[in-house]
Amino acid sequence: MNKHNLIEKAYQTNDLSKGEIIFLFESITPEEREDLFSKAMQTKQAYYGNKVYLRGLIEFSNICRQDCLYCGIRASNTKVKRYRLIPEEILACCDKGYELGYRTFVLQSGEDLWYTEEILSALIQQIKRRYDAEVAVTLSIGERDVETYQKLFASGADRFLMRHETASQELYGKLHPTMSFEDRRAYLNALKGIGFQVGAGFMVGLPGQTPIDLAEDLHYLKKLHPDMIGIGPFIPHSETPLGSEKGGTINDTLVMVALARLLIPDSLIPATTALGTLHPLGREMALKAGANVVMPIITPTSVRKQYALYENKICGDDHPEDCRYCIERRIQTVGLEVDLGRGDSWQFLSNA
Ligand code: 5AD
Repeated sequence: MNKHNLIEKAYQTNDLSKGEIIFLFESITPEEREDLFSKAMQTKQAYYGNKVYLRGLIEFSNICRQDCLYCGIRASNTKVKRYRLIPEEILACCDKGYELGYRTFVLQSGEDLWYTEEILSALIQQIKRRYDAEVAVTLSIGERDVETYQKLFASGADRFLMRHETASQELYGKLHPTMSFEDRRAYLNALKGIGFQVGAGFMVGLPGQTPIDLAEDLHYLKKLHPDMIGIGPFIPHSETPLGSEKGGTINDTLVMVALARLLIPDSLIPATTALGTLHPLGREMALKAGANVVMPIITPTSVRKQYALYENKICGDDHPEDCRYCIERRIQTVGLEVDLGRGDSWQFLSNA
């Protein structure tokens, strides 16, 4: 089949076989890419209109018990200066974020068990009670047991982000010496079952990753049907075992973003910080290829640079208000508008 027809088929039916995805991905021309991005953008417009949702991202600890080969804050990296924000400091970040208009707070960290279930539950309850307007709390804290996830949900957490990272079992095994492929998937299913709005996702351009793996990523996501899908390029970090590997490319990542939009049309898709790091206009390009969420950083400037999952991460010297308005301008340059609401997913709103 001709590739324009394949793109049209994806647009009309929200479905492509793995073979079709691989064929498109491997041989897409610049002109076909524009067609793909424009169809993805139209699909996004049909579900979410002109609005882009903002989330205030608080990177509250870079301490991690896991040892993922690609990640700059892996336990084995002794060069990172570790930090941990105490609950009062996290609440101060939320206050700043609330003042800047954010109504979703994403609490992200390495897998740091200093934050016990009790500490996290109390924190979530405080955030949920603290403001006049309703806010959503998103957790991105990695793997805990299912009972803990249940308690955190009961304490008021609304959403949970945990990328599946790669749908290739073999590659997953190589990259995650301290984690299990089956557990990861079981946790994602459990989080969904508990009632969280769930975010999954993957990296593009991992060493050893093939187009077959990427097609599998999209098929896995279509089946899981998460509320949110985070896709970013792999960016090598010199203090990791993958430091001298090649990273993912902007075009490959954008093609996966656009295909994710076409195959899982009602999902929330962030224009990731990693894309903004790879190219100065990476996030704008993602917004033109079907993304509809941006997560500006509200982590205190004093520790920002220490949360380096990859190197040269943007906004390291910026203050929360810089990011707030920089992002708004970027969104406007591509003809879209900031929406400061909670920004729930279509799937969530239609089940509510
Ligand atoms: N390059 C790009 N993305 C990375 N992540 C971690 N390390 C890197 C890297 N070197 C991503 C993972 C993780 C998310 C928070 O950041 O996908 O889930």
